[in-house]
Amino acid sequence: MKRVAVIPGDGIGPEVIREAIAVLERVRTTHDVKLQLTEFDWGADKYLREGVSLPEGALEMLSQNFDAILAGAFGDPRIPSNKVAEDVLLGMRRGLDLYINLRPVRLLDARLSPLRDRMVDEIDFVVFRENTEGAYCGAGGFLKKGSSDEIAIQEELNTRPGVERIIVAAFEYARANGRKRVTMADKSNVQRFGGDLWQRVFKEVGARYAEVETNHQYVDAMTMFMVLDPGQYDVIVTNNLFGDILTDLGAAIVGGLGLAASGNIHPGRVSLFEPVHGSAPPLAGKGIANPIGAILTVSMMLEYLGYREAGVTVESAVRQSVLHQETTHDLGGTLSTSEAGKAICNRIG
Ligand code: NAD
Ligand code: IPM
Ligand code: MN
Repeated sequence: MKRVAVIPGDGIGPEVIREAIAVLERVRTTHDVKLQLTEFDWGADKYLREGVSLPEGALEMLSQNFDAILAGAFGDPRIPSNKVAEDVLLGMRRGLDLYINLRPVRLLDARLSPLRDRMVDEIDFVVFRENTEGAYCGAGGFLKKGSSDEIAIQEELNTRPGVERIIVAAFEYARANGRKRVTMADKSNVQRFGGDLWQRVFKEVGARYAEVETNHQYVDAMTMFMVLDPGQYDVIVTNNLFGDILTDLGAAIVGGLGLAASGNIHPGRVSLFEPVHGSAPPLAGKGIANPIGAILTVSMMLEYLGYREAGVTVESAVRQSVLHQETTHDLGGTLSTSEAGKAICNRIG
């Protein structure tokens, strides 16, 4: 029995998580998947009601009582400080030391790419985004705040162990999955110190994986190549902020944020699975959000929990429904969130 904490969150989060849970219920019957789901109401409403974002003791509770966490999205226009996402989402990533943010970019149907003449599976890579430090460390401060010569300092943290473990994870993944190339993206021509550390560690670690080709691109060039020649990528490794930006672009070239999935992983520990997209306030409450990002997230979570066959089945059900245009508006279809979810469930069997 695997225990899963479910945090639907804000905006379209609960709408897409409802469909993701329906898929989990389906594989419970078609495959021998044994899950115990426990829901938590953490998010904007709770915060506005009770002043609580991430409840006290939550991280210990999650790491002791659960094998995985399934989250929707966090962010609400009523909370401009973004405090809930900061406390709950970044809090879990940092506090549970989920150092790998794994974000696959895969073209399921050639018609979905806004790029001309792309073939199915020509775009098929995974991004290893460092997930606990970099520009997300929260270090910095103001001097003379509010004055006309105000100073704001925003630091970026790069530790040797932090850089090494994400690069090792990328190479290990390449080796285990027969991927031939790992490309590192950085801005080491300008960010001399952090960039230098990443460069040295990348060379050192890469040398231990003779069968995997190492490749480097400055991140600005990578955004260009990701549009002009996305087929060249197998595994990309990069820091927290560049990984955030590159994976929205990655989502866009395979059909949009509505179908991008992610895992926040510390191998062997409770890990967090969530769609790449946010709470999408303009779509919330309308029943039109694409549930595929959340459903492919469930597929990743099932594989992480050891239910590989169920995960693969979910992924191929998604592919089949996309090929048959059983999709929401963002992918050119006419279905609502729940109809698109049901179509996928039906294809699972
Ligand atoms: P967003 O990902 O919420 O939405 C951007 C746009 O992408 C939407 O307006 C919509 O056009 C499209 N989109 C996203 N998800 C979709 C779906 N499932 N189906 C169809 N179209 C979809 O990004 P944003 O508008 O920049 O941010 C909104 C809020 O979400 C902010 O508060 C932000 O901080 C937060 N956010 C949270 C997460 C997270 O919880 N993991 C991720 C990104 C943004
Ligand atoms: C993501 C989001 C988050 C991030 C925000 C909501 C803090 O954009 O998961 O990609 O920047 O990591
Ligand atoms: Mn993002």
